[in-house]
Amino acid sequence: MSSISEKRISILISGRGSNMEAFLKAERRGVLSGQVVRVISNRPDAAGLATASDAGVATTVVDHTLYESRGAFDAALAEAVKQDNPDVVVLAGFMRILTPVFIDAFVGKLVNVHPSLLPNYPGLNTHQRAIDNSDREAGATVHYVTNEIDGGPPILQVSVPIESGDDSDSLAARILDFEHVIFPEAVNWHLQGRLVHEADGAYLDGKKLPPTGSLWEWQA
Ligand code: GAR
Repeated sequence: MSSISEKRISILISGRGSNMEAFLKAERRGVLSGQVVRVISNRPDAAGLATASDAGVATTVVDHTLYESRGAFDAALAEAVKQDNPDVVVLAGFMRILTPVFIDAFVGKLVNVHPSLLPNYPGLNTHQRAIDNSDREAGATVHYVTNEIDGGPPILQVSVPIESGDDSDSLAARILDFEHVIFPEAVNWHLQGRLVHEADGAYLDGKKLPPTGSLWEWQA
C-alpha cells in the first residue's frame, strides 16, 4: 500500500489554473497529502500550463478540437490520465462537459470545484445568476463527479456574502479565494482515506454528508 505522500494527483484545467496553482502551493508548503504528477489541459493556450511547467510539473495537452466527437476526445483524455495511475483526478476549471467514457473510468476518484452553493445553480454564469436573484450569499462547492452535470455528491461548501455593488467579476474573485482553500482541503480528505464516494453519496469519517456537503467554517 502506498503511503499518503506517495498518493498521486492528476489535475485537469482549461484556462488560468489558479485552483491548480493552489494545489502546487499546498504541496510546496507540505500540506498536501499527495503529489501533483501531471497537469493536463484541453486547450493548448491555457495559461495554467506555464504555471505548472515553471513549477516543474509535467504537462500534457489533449486538444479537444482535434477529435471528431466528444466520446473520442474523452477516450483520449482517459488514456492520458490513466498513464499517471492517479489516486485522485482534480477538475480545476476544466470547462468541457465530460461523458461516461471518461467519468466511468475514474468515478470515485473524480473531484470538481463549482462556483455556486450546490445544489443551487449548476451550469454556467453562476455568479450573475445569484446576483440577478438577489441572493444574499453565494459560494463554491467541491463535489464528487458523476454523469449528472454538477450533480455529484457535495463534499465541502463555503458561503460568502454578496455585497451591494457586486458584479459577477467582484463576486467571482471573492469566491475564488475560498475555492483555493476548500479544494485542496477536500482532496486531502480523499487522499487520507477519510472521504469516500459511495453509490448513495459522499461519506466523511464514516458519516454521510448532507446535500450541501460539509460547511466550511469561517476562521475567527
Ligand atoms: C473557478 O472559479 C472554478 O470554480 C470554475 O472555473 C474557475 C476556474 O478558475 N469552474 C467551473 O465553473 C466548472 N463548472 P481557475 O482556472 O483559475 O482555477
